[in-house]
Amino acid sequence: MPELPGGFLWGVSTSAYQIEGAVTEDGRGPSVWDTFSAAPGRIVDGTTGAVATDSYHRYADDVALMRDLGVGAYRFSVAWPRIQPDGTGPANAAGLDHYERLVDALLDAGIAPVATLFHWDLPQALQDRGGWLSRETAHRFGEYAALVAGRLGDRVRMWITLNEPFVHMSLGYALGTHAPGEQLLFDAFPVAHHQLLGHGLAVAALRDHSSSPVTLANNYSPARPATDDPADLAAAAAYDALQNRVFTDPLFGLGYPEGAADLSVVREGDLDVIAAPIDALGVNYYNPTGVRGPADGSPLPFEMVPLEGYPTTAFGWPVAPDGLREMLVALHARYGAALPPVYITESGCAYDDVIGPDGSCDDPQRIAYLDAHLDALAAAQADGVDVRGYFVWSLLDNWEWAEGFTKRFGLVHVDFDTQARTPKSSFAWLRERIRDHR
Ligand code: FCB
Repeated sequence: MPELPGGFLWGVSTSAYQIEGAVTEDGRGPSVWDTFSAAPGRIVDGTTGAVATDSYHRYADDVALMRDLGVGAYRFSVAWPRIQPDGTGPANAAGLDHYERLVDALLDAGIAPVATLFHWDLPQALQDRGGWLSRETAHRFGEYAALVAGRLGDRVRMWITLNEPFVHMSLGYALGTHAPGEQLLFDAFPVAHHQLLGHGLAVAALRDHSSSPVTLANNYSPARPATDDPADLAAAAAYDALQNRVFTDPLFGLGYPEGAADLSVVREGDLDVIAAPIDALGVNYYNPTGVRGPADGSPLPFEMVPLEGYPTTAFGWPVAPDGLREMLVALHARYGAALPPVYITESGCAYDDVIGPDGSCDDPQRIAYLDAHLDALAAAQADGVDVRGYFVWSLLDNWEWAEGFTKRFGLVHVDFDTQARTPKSSFAWLRERIRDHR
């Protein structure tokens, strides 16, 4: 039976569309992100992920970097349109071959492969039939999961079904700043339910083909009311339900939080499928969210406001490591014994890192960021939360969705013209940290 390495698991994370490039190779079909990024005005620097960090071809270099870093695990994602170019039917063998080569290279390097099945790059053909607004997509996702696990189920050491279904719903279908660019506001709720149903169907498919642990990765953010005015407190509670509970309560058999969701798309039996036992919970954490009561006539029950009093990253996100501890403790308090072991499946920051005259890349702010978040993780452990691992977002500077190449999250600097990889000082720092904690 494949096993994760014992002890605390150190890892790094990436996702397919952000690093692979090679978007027309080996039979890959188009995804919603190819379509979205090709449309004018969607991506701040007008770029696409057509080349990204060229990791489809350079995966062996990336594995060598990770071996040098000393991580025990690599969280990557499988591009659905490489496996099913039009979203249905038998597997494209060449697509599976690529991930098999990657997985085998990782295992040879002593690194546990952790595979995410959906990191937002839906086959365009499924989008043309409604995407996650359509229940059919959930069923297609279960079939796709079976195809991947049928080939790699004996070697992938942990499965992550979905990445951040809340972010995908809110940015992709409610606000439209991510693919597929829909602006449905609260009418986007079917996307929540169909993703979660797809998750449950994928869990069943994975169990048929693999004995490795299964989880999903949610993005959590403590909601901080702007003031203690009752309208702001109510807004914070509404936001908390939407981001932190809609995608988690049903996993643990609690159904959807009252009043937070339009239940008309929920059919009998769905909640049982969604509540299939999982072996871990993936927590992606970046920042808390400032919230206040909505302006009169707003279609939303809250308004997001900048948080005062925190330093910010180059993305403008507040640096608030205490929010990680707060979130972990809140999850533990809310779900109690039902909460499985937790892995931090993403944590990291963007800064404007540059290569200096001596060829090195010094990123002291990232070191401080990671150090503080690891302290917050340790504090949550001391509070009784069973946190088993920490994955840094990201191994490499990469293509950051609507921000294109303008946000650098990597432990490794990438020159996007030459693809030269230069480990930053945070890379050396993390290597020491991992060595000390093994
Ligand atoms: C997360 C995404 C990941 C990356 C980081 C910065 O929300 O899962 O792909 O964009 O943010």
